[in-house]
Amino acid sequence: MNRPAWLRDAVFYEIYPSSFCDSNADGMGDINGIRQKLPYVKDLGCNALWLNPCFDSPFKDGGYDVRDYKKVAPRYGTNEDLFALFREAHELGIRVLLDLVPGHTSEEHPWFLESGQAEKNEYSDRYIWTDFWIKGTPGHPYIGGETPRNGTYMLNFFKCQPALNYGWAKVTEPWQTPLDAPAARATRDAMADVMRFWLEKGCDGFRVDMANSLVKADDDEKSHTCALWKGLLNEMRAKFPEAAFVAEWGWPKQSLCLADFDMDFYLDHPGNGYNRLVRSADAYLRGNDPMAFVTDYLDLYDASKDFGYISFITGNHDTPRISWYLTEDQLKVACALLLTLPGVPFLYYGDEIGMRYLEYLPTKEGGYTRTGSRTPMQWAAGKNLGFSAGDAESLYLPVDPAPDAPTAAAQAQDPASLLNTVKAILKLRHEYPDLQADGPFKLVHAKKGDPLLIYRRGSCLLAANPSNRSVQTDLTGEPLFQIGAFEKGTLGPRSFILLIQ
Ligand code: NOJ
Repeated sequence: MNRPAWLRDAVFYEIYPSSFCDSNADGMGDINGIRQKLPYVKDLGCNALWLNPCFDSPFKDGGYDVRDYKKVAPRYGTNEDLFALFREAHELGIRVLLDLVPGHTSEEHPWFLESGQAEKNEYSDRYIWTDFWIKGTPGHPYIGGETPRNGTYMLNFFKCQPALNYGWAKVTEPWQTPLDAPAARATRDAMADVMRFWLEKGCDGFRVDMANSLVKADDDEKSHTCALWKGLLNEMRAKFPEAAFVAEWGWPKQSLCLADFDMDFYLDHPGNGYNRLVRSADAYLRGNDPMAFVTDYLDLYDASKDFGYISFITGNHDTPRISWYLTEDQLKVACALLLTLPGVPFLYYGDEIGMRYLEYLPTKEGGYTRTGSRTPMQWAAGKNLGFSAGDAESLYLPVDPAPDAPTAAAQAQDPASLLNTVKAILKLRHEYPDLQADGPFKLVHAKKGDPLLIYRRGSCLLAANPSNRSVQTDLTGEPLFQIGAFEKGTLGPRSFILLIQ
């Protein structure tokens, strides 16, 4: 597998910039706040960051509605602040991925404003427009009545996010452009230009939003979208061989095997392996047997392991926090498992201390049910839990008001805390190459009706029991790492062990 070597030992930390650390007391997290916390990230054991979009935006979808791809949102700071973040992160051995949103822009992006003009211009076909003001884009959401142009435009997500035009795999209408149309090529080249811009400034790659959405009317295999990515990524790699790319795709048979991404997220899709590992009512980590997860995962792993990495996530800015589903003890087992399976794991900020999902919060910037997972990082007891020195009313979102809201400072003092458990497991992962992204993986024990899961990663044998009961195993030896009880082969409730043998 020809992937950047640094990915083998990479552990990512996802940061939602509005909510991580406010350096100037205006209530909004910012780039300089992230710079201040780099030592925390390093101490945790993460050596790579993914920042959610930090670009100029009207923020109708948390920044996934980009108005200027080459400008840091003023509320987060300046481009110079971001360049400084790249430099300081690199000094600590931390890589930084930015979020690329190639499928759509904000409705306020200058390209779109031009595209909506009645007179034909360079940008007219850079978005997907029909040829009559009342004619829609069949099978896709669209908007009419907003621009001087006689047509309606296709949306990729919210109303504020018109779809960029990468061409149609099959042209059936006069207003659709083929894949090799000059405008479709120009869109692709514009995105390549954005990628180059940040890579030249020191960013280490991109997380790519809705990466599978580019070519319209693509076949089931997404062959044209895959071909487009393969070309684009390899164009970047020729100049930036160390750059890494992770797709928001959720289907490694396409993203890794065909589109040539380095990594793909195991996303939380109803009923899929990740969902049934962590989140569904019958999820393994909630004490059930692991068969649904194992079946789904092995199929994806076997098909894609020679091509790239599946990325397990503790959660992300789109999902309820993992603590919503699991008890405190189960969270430790969950982290131990998610951070020792093959591939490159992603930890969502605050999950390392079990931050809660604040279900009742009103929507903020298009967050809706996602808002409760985007609250400020809880650093320490005291004002705004250490997130900001500003007034509580000025905060981007309120901090968790619970008297027992977990904080990083308190958990650092407690050897048995989730934070210290995560640190311990990441330390081992860095020490043992077998536990890293492309270390070997073999399933040793998984059975219907049985909560015991045993898997081997080279010289490391790992066993989990997230259920409330004890299970008997034939394992012996002194664990190098242990959660819960392990005595005479019996794994106690909510336990996890790592043996070297
Ligand atoms: C996926 C992102 O993760 C999500 O937050 C966003 O709303 C949509 N893509 C649209 O860009």
